[in-house]
Amino acid sequence: MPKPKVYSTHPLFEEARKILDANCDVQYWSESERPSRDEVLRRVKDREGLVCLLTEKINDELLRAAPKLRIVANVAVGFDNIDVDACTKRGVVATNTPGVLDETTADFAWTLLLAVARRLAEGESLARSGSWKGWNLDQFCGADVWGKTLGVVGFGRIGRAVARRASGFQMKVIYTDAVRAPEDVENSVNAEYRDLNSLLADSDFISLHVPLLPETRALFDAPKFFRMKPTAFLINTSRGPVVDEAALVAALENNKIAGAALDVYENEPFIHPGLKRPNVVLAPHLASASLETRTKMAVMAANNVVALFHGQRPPNMLNPDLLKKQ
Ligand code: GLV
Repeated sequence: MPKPKVYSTHPLFEEARKILDANCDVQYWSESERPSRDEVLRRVKDREGLVCLLTEKINDELLRAAPKLRIVANVAVGFDNIDVDACTKRGVVATNTPGVLDETTADFAWTLLLAVARRLAEGESLARSGSWKGWNLDQFCGADVWGKTLGVVGFGRIGRAVARRASGFQMKVIYTDAVRAPEDVENSVNAEYRDLNSLLADSDFISLHVPLLPETRALFDAPKFFRMKPTAFLINTSRGPVVDEAALVAALENNKIAGAALDVYENEPFIHPGLKRPNVVLAPHLASASLETRTKMAVMAANNVVALFHGQRPPNMLNPDLLKKQ
């Protein structure tokens, strides 16, 4: 039996390649630049499996170009790049990589939170510049983190992991979500449920952990920034379009909030020039980027592909009803 043909838009990591290569005939994109859209559309033509990154749009156009496709394995937990309904209509399984990146992403949300509060980026660039004149009493005085109130927006696995870390900083944790968490979960991380307006009014740091959905697009818009404390900071490691970037820039320019730390942007890799300010920390979508975690994500995607071609249910299906119908 010939092995199923798979295209991977990235060379992945060796551990994932071993799994795929043992079971599939895989073509890997191995250039350092990402493949163009045309390149991807050309490469998927005869492929039954596709391993892709969150930068690839998996829509009708791509599915039309890949008539033999049976599975799209996203190497990411967020899957707003995939039109899951379009996949389902064509009988294509879509998978993601939930769970393995929660703690790593939470670590990075805290990295950003601490960096923006304590003005690390500004201090670091002075330290590197060669023009630091020495210790001074009022140099780069930031905001305390310990003892403050952390507002977590979106209380799924990642939001809870972020909340859990707050106890070491003696912080009060409040959260909001479409669905209130069970009491034992709230108690386990010492978090109190609030509606969004109350969270906006009381938080010193707001960290976003919602998926990008029609109802979360531009969730943080001008009225939300008006409700925040002028001393508060916004941290976003979820998806860029959850924040109306122009409104955020206006809020920063008008001192409606104290600062922001961002890992994600409305139109990546474009970054709104108004965000390039001293009180904004900017990262290039790195939250899950530890070698251990990115390797686990790639392995998970490989295992999803291999499971399908072995006649098993891929463990991380986004359209779980699909295989029941077949
Ligand atoms: C990264 O942003 C992911 O969704 O995994």
